[in-house]
Amino acid sequence: MKIRRCAVLYIEPREELAIDWSSLFAGSTTLAASTRWLALAPHLDREIEVDAADLAAMAAVSQTVWSELEACEQCHGAACVARLLELGLLIGDAPEHEALRERDETLRAQHWRPLAALAHTFSRWHDVRTETGMEAPSFQQLLDRHGTPPAPTMDLGTPASAFKLPKAASGILDETLMKRYTGRNFDTGASLPLAVAARLLQRTFGAQEQRQVGPHADVLKKTSPSGGGLHPVEAFVLVQRIAGVTPGLYYYHPTEHELRPLRTMESDEAAAVALQMVAEQQWLADAPMQVVMVGRIERSFWKYRNHQKAYRALALDAGHLSQTFYLLAAEAGLPAFITAAINDVDIERMLDLDHLRHAVIAVCGCGPASTGPRNMVELRYGETGLG
Ligand SMILES: Cc1cc2nc3c(=O)[nH]c(=O)nc-3n(C[C@H](O)[C@H](O)[C@H](O)COP(=O)(O)O)c2cc1C
Repeated sequence: MKIRRCAVLYIEPREELAIDWSSLFAGSTTLAASTRWLALAPHLDREIEVDAADLAAMAAVSQTVWSELEACEQCHGAACVARLLELGLLIGDAPEHEALRERDETLRAQHWRPLAALAHTFSRWHDVRTETGMEAPSFQQLLDRHGTPPAPTMDLGTPASAFKLPKAASGILDETLMKRYTGRNFDTGASLPLAVAARLLQRTFGAQEQRQVGPHADVLKKTSPSGGGLHPVEAFVLVQRIAGVTPGLYYYHPTEHELRPLRTMESDEAAAVALQMVAEQQWLADAPMQVVMVGRIERSFWKYRNHQKAYRALALDAGHLSQTFYLLAAEAGLPAFITAAINDVDIERMLDLDHLRHAVIAVCGCGPASTGPRNMVELRYGETGLG
């Protein structure tokens, strides 16, 4: 049998601090530090504690070239090698290792930059709820906790020699730009008119043009810019209240301009799904339409193979789409939102996506604002305009 090391592997020394009671009673240092070595491999999607013997065995095996199992066993012991194979840190070519080998090969096939694959995999959330993982502190609470924030501008250069610019002229975008804001007080009794939802989706995520650039190779033109012109970020829509559309999860097809149902559901289930997606930020989950932005790794990294900037470009693409979405919502007189504080792992499960091939980046949404009293979160953010 042959083995090799998994494609991407980082080892993190994780320090843990605890109160050292004996030194505390002796009147000296009160913190004791201990270090564990954690293996982080994106294809395994979990942290694995390893020891010095594991590290030595893994260091001795190539991540590219297959080598004989026996040779490694002789140097590092059969038990150690068997454990690493079972964990998937070493990859075997035998049938019993097929499942983990397949995950490793999926990662290799995407052309991730290793550090980006690591950052993506280990920054995903599962079942984070606002009351445990996230909170929405008021600006005053932040001031109390962290003191004065860094100034709002860098304020560099010499004011005396500054070139004063003319006042910004008004333009046709002004009204929309000035109306744009993040809504956190959606009207749970209101639906999004179908025509508004259709325009928002088509003008943000839809193809305005399609061009063939080679046999079986097409590029799309959208209203937002995209790294490499590849438009790897696509939209999955959670419908809660769009007039005439059954609640549920849909894939929005950018050239066909249609919602393809993945799972229809009752309204209360759709509301629960929305809440789970945005880590229980109720103020965002109330919006009648949520859009999950998913980056297709294989499309982006087809060009940007093993590229340092590729993952950053993917996030920037989603940011551009979000602003376009916000502006179209503002044009329709609606607030919108975007959040990266999402339970990506849960969303992947709902949409049957593999995090190595599809990066769930952010969720945006919009809908009519409530005309009633503003809720606490809206008031908190409204105080400062920050979030
Ligand atoms: C990347 C990103 C992430 C955000 N995440 C959240 C969030 O998790 N929850 C939230 O209520 N608002 C979120 N916002 C909205 C900001 O809080 C908001 O843009 C900011 O307060 C400025 O307000 P404005 O959009 O109305 O100008 C996010 C915005 C961006 C661009």
